[in-house]
Amino acid sequence: MTVRLDDLPLRDDLRGRKPYGAPQAPLPVALNVNENTHPVPEEVADDILDAIALALREVNRYPDREFTGLREAFAGYLGHGLTRDQIWAANGSNEVLQHILQAFAGPGRTAFGFSPTYSMYPLLTRGTGAEWREGEREADFSVSAVSAAEQVGEARPDVVFLCSPNNPTGTPMTLDVIEAVYDATDGIVIVDEAYHEFAPHDVPSALTLLPGRERLVVSRTMSKAFAFAGARVGYLAADPAFIDALRLVRLPYHLSALTQAAATAALGHADTMLAMVDDIVVQRDRISATLEALGYEPYESWSNFVLFGGVDEPARVWERLYERGVLIRDIGIPHHLRVSAGTEEETTAFLDALASIDSAS
Ligand SMILES: Cc1ncc(COP(=O)(O)O)c(C=O)c1O
Repeated sequence: MTVRLDDLPLRDDLRGRKPYGAPQAPLPVALNVNENTHPVPEEVADDILDAIALALREVNRYPDREFTGLREAFAGYLGHGLTRDQIWAANGSNEVLQHILQAFAGPGRTAFGFSPTYSMYPLLTRGTGAEWREGEREADFSVSAVSAAEQVGEARPDVVFLCSPNNPTGTPMTLDVIEAVYDATDGIVIVDEAYHEFAPHDVPSALTLLPGRERLVVSRTMSKAFAFAGARVGYLAADPAFIDALRLVRLPYHLSALTQAAATAALGHADTMLAMVDDIVVQRDRISATLEALGYEPYESWSNFVLFGGVDEPARVWERLYERGVLIRDIGIPHHLRVSAGTEEETTAFLDALASIDSAS
């Protein structure tokens, strides 16, 4: 007899839950998980390989548990006068967020976000035994400072997620919203800036708000702008005391010596690694303009993807694109689909495929 999940003594609060499940299909044009589809530039890849080769010679030893060199490199990259004692990192920003929730959420506590937002927030929250609470956005998916503060003040969560810009909608968030939410709660406020590098260059980061706000934390990732999703490296900046809290919950030596070496080497080439960001932004804006010309309703995006409405049958359009070798994302918002900006060729393939489909058929 086959054993089913229900037959196991699983935690009650996890029964019936669905795991993260963006399809991974070997299609020629994969634009469904907001990756950077540009490969790591050759000269940087060579340097990373050299760094990994060196680290491999000492792989019999545990790595630097405090990943000191890498934290210093992140502080240098972020600027804003940050020092390494204000930096944390882990295997993807997903793990960074998990560390925060392990330390500040957990059983009997709550975490809060403005829906729709990044689908991992509720999963990570429930994984720690905490409860997930949802706030509301306007019809255009924005949220004002007044409304955000009001909703957070009412919900009184222990942890607030502010996704800036927001995934899956691409919606910008201005600093006044973050300040208002911080003032409306005694809890932790996480500003997830996974896509910050794709925002207009003159937009200030929430890093500028860190001084004097010991409950504020800004998380980032190398997965998007740095084209490093497969290496799994995320990081954050916060008060040194906040970093100490994360040391209580992480596994010892959670960042492998090979990861530390690869990420540090890549950060040494930040300019080259980030050279593709502007090209991706050009493709993103081209997607928005073309979608509009095709009669769809794209939303303003400060990220590397575009959410668009006006899709009569999202599941059907998704399938027709799939048949044409193009993978995008049906994120479950009625009449909407989301697509990541790719290279110029990939973007053209998506737009041509979409134009060949009658969305109403
Ligand atoms: C808003 C947001 N935060 C965090 C992540 C996780 O990134 P990673 O774990 O690859 O660093 C993603 C990935 O899509 C995201 O969209």
